[in-house]
Amino acid sequence: PKIIFSGIQPTGVPHLGNYLGALKQWKDMQDTARPLDKLFFSIVDLHALTIPGSADKLRQNRREMLTSLLAIGLNPERSTIFYQSSVPQHAELQWILSCTASTGYLTRMTQWKSKLTTLNPSSPSQSTTPSNPTISSPALKHGLFSYPILQAADILLHTATHVPVGSDQKQHLEFARECVTNFHSAWSVPLESRIFPYPQTISLDSSSRVMSLADPAKKMSKSDPNPKSKIFINDDEAAIRQKIKWARTDCVSTYVGEYDPVNRPGVANLLEILGGFAGKTGREAAEEIKEETLQTLKTLTADAVVSGLAEVRENFMLFGEDTEVNRQRVREIEEIGTQSARESAERTMEKVRNAIGLS
Ligand code: TYM
Repeated sequence: PKIIFSGIQPTGVPHLGNYLGALKQWKDMQDTARPLDKLFFSIVDLHALTIPGSADKLRQNRREMLTSLLAIGLNPERSTIFYQSSVPQHAELQWILSCTASTGYLTRMTQWKSKLTTLNPSSPSQSTTPSNPTISSPALKHGLFSYPILQAADILLHTATHVPVGSDQKQHLEFARECVTNFHSAWSVPLESRIFPYPQTISLDSSSRVMSLADPAKKMSKSDPNPKSKIFINDDEAAIRQKIKWARTDCVSTYVGEYDPVNRPGVANLLEILGGFAGKTGREAAEEIKEETLQTLKTLTADAVVSGLAEVRENFMLFGEDTEVNRQRVREIEEIGTQSARESAERTMEKVRNAIGLS
């Protein structure tokens, strides 16, 4: 049987990139899972601490993310939905893995560099300038640097075999596999009693990297301050249509033509989005409408997004409303999720503590 695990940071309502790259896959995997398969979806609030904000905001974001996960169709009776911080074993395993994880490997990873750059956009001409962030930059906090170890711990703690994510997470998944090797070899765990399987990355061919609508050279990102750059899963029809109308394309041609992400990234991005809702690649979407104008492409894309997100948006409003019924339901879901995730975590940790002499 498969063990499916994935996580999302509670940093605001998910956008179209999160949805097409990850969340839609989560829901599809849930609906096609076999009876013995297990699914875990975590709201990774410990990871969110790497970008400090206010406590109230985090509380609100956690709750909003839970609403979002229910809105996209995750079913708490089928999938274990839980806050990472409610299962202390995540942090415990992170420490243990960090003792066998390579700092050199972490240094070469790209995320801390790009996050550091977005966090500190204006430190002009020091040696730690954002264009060249280094490991000795005072702005680099250890939590951000060791972020991938906590992510590896998330995955390994539940002995996940399959991890559905957008393509920006591929490097982190490779690192998680590296942690499996390092752990077993450092503690001389024999092959037949290996604790962690190698987790497999599950990414779609298309829409695993949705780009910003305002600048198709950048990925659509929660931290992008430009509201025109992204569509949220609870945007209303007018907002969706407006943002797609504004989406940057190009002057190469007023027609759709071939799928060409290198020379026509804005057009390719709309094709990916259009295809994403129909289970097609951007290339396949282009094949069907290459004779059409860019204006038609925008109309078709807007139609696809509006109808593709209609139910999600409706659910979001329904589950997000602050009523006693919803509050009660959320408390129940939190309780079931926490309990089920803790059981799974403790099963693994018993083996881990045994293997390293902490039992
Ligand atoms: P996060 O919260 O940034 O994003 C959640 C998921 O959305 C995907 N995604 C995208 N996919 C396509 N196009 C985009 N523009 C786009 N932007 C985001 C991400 O790939 C991700 O799948 N480190 C993770 C959270 C995490 C995790 C884990 C994931 C923590 N522990 C264990 C998997 C397994 C993150 O920051 O995702």
